[in-house]
Amino acid sequence: MGLEEAVEVIGRGQADFDAPRDDLSPDDLALLYAYLNQRGHLEELVAAFSQLLAGTKPTNPIVVDLGCGPFTGGLALAATLGGDTSFDYIGIDRADSMRRLAEHLASSDLTPGRVTTHWAPDIGSVRWPHPRGWREVIVVVSYLFASPTLDVEAMFADLIRLLHRLGNGAVTLL
Ligand SMILES: C[S@@+](CC[C@H](N)C(=O)[O-])C[C@H]1O[C@@H](n2cnc3c(N)ncnc32)[C@H](O)[C@@H]1O
Repeated sequence: MGLEEAVEVIGRGQADFDAPRDDLSPDDLALLYAYLNQRGHLEELVAAFSQLLAGTKPTNPIVVDLGCGPFTGGLALAATLGGDTSFDYIGIDRADSMRRLAEHLASSDLTPGRVTTHWAPDIGSVRWPHPRGWREVIVVVSYLFASPTLDVEAMFADLIRLLHRLGNGAVTLL
């Protein structure tokens, strides 16, 4: 497969990554997405987190990554905060194959620090095991806005319900 065809198959990250295509399995498609896009998105997100945090280190924040793909936001935050930090990462992605690759990367040596992961196919399915608290929350929504079919109002209604379940901490939307 040539580069042009590969880019077309991935469909700017909006492909159905659980539907096999030709001889590519869902896991192949997730890997192909990561190969073509993850490095660039990582660089963008590391720059965004560096500006957002401006040298500060939030204490044990909760990260909600909508359309998380292969854990890109988690990798970027872990790289920005360094090895001596911890955070909970709620990765939401409709594609099982993406969540599988995300978990693989989150539990690998590529991820410094202590990251506790929670995976869900949609916002309403997030299982949060802790009582409501005052932890800082960082929500990464940047890549979902590229979705032409997104119902933004419904997404934010679901997000607000989830934030209520997490607690009363300050929320930053990236
Ligand atoms: C452009 S990719 C971005 C992935 C990741 N954030 C990154 O920067 O590499 C978009 C991701 O959103 C997921 N996605 C698209 N629409 C979605 C939806 N309605 N709900 C949850 N995930 C969705 C896709 O499966 C894909 O993994």
